[in-house]
Amino acid sequence: LVILANKEYSIGEHVPGDLKTVEVPTVLENPEIRQLKEPAADALKEMFDAAEEEGIILHARSGYRSYQTQVQLFNSNVEKHGEEAASQFSSRPGHSEHQTGLAMDVTSESVNYQLVEAFGETEEGIWLQENAHLFGFIIRYPEGKSDITGYVYEPWHLRYLGNDLATLVYESGLSYEEFLYEWGIISEINK
Ligand code: DAL
Ligand code: ZN
Repeated sequence: LVILANKEYSIGEHVPGDLKTVEVPTVLENPEIRQLKEPAADALKEMFDAAEEEGIILHARSGYRSYQTQVQLFNSNVEKHGEEAASQFSSRPGHSEHQTGLAMDVTSESVNYQLVEAFGETEEGIWLQENAHLFGFIIRYPEGKSDITGYVYEPWHLRYLGNDLATLVYESGLSYEEFLYEWGIISEINK
């Protein structure tokens, strides 16, 4: 669960072994991206159910993406936005957390089910910032940490780490890269 995929660390063409279709409302039909690794899928369901009990309705948009899917997505983003701009929000193949099966992009009706920065100021986005760690997830690309994570603020991108680690990272106030560095697990923080 601690696997690190970022601009510096690639997971190659790794395919997770225990992918499962999530049992929560999803925005997109593509069956591939409705999957997560089993513990993450189960935790996502628990989190969505707990949110709903508080009147917070969440929708899942994009979870697991294969290496090949990331090839297509990154290339299409480069065509649309140019390579430099694309690399601020889209990972190169092998470098995306989505390929680990441990990341899910979450959205809500209040932002028309899109992945936009404004999601961070919605009721749903705020609920996730305050509660996601209780279900084992962190907001992986926090505001103000782009220099370290390499990506723009993504209030929608949740990364599963399990409850203990997610809570430690949440309480530290650090990005995942800074946290791993503090704990001596990586020796440098990528730029
Ligand atoms: N949007 C994240 C950084 C990805 O493409 O994996
Ligand atoms: Zn994402």
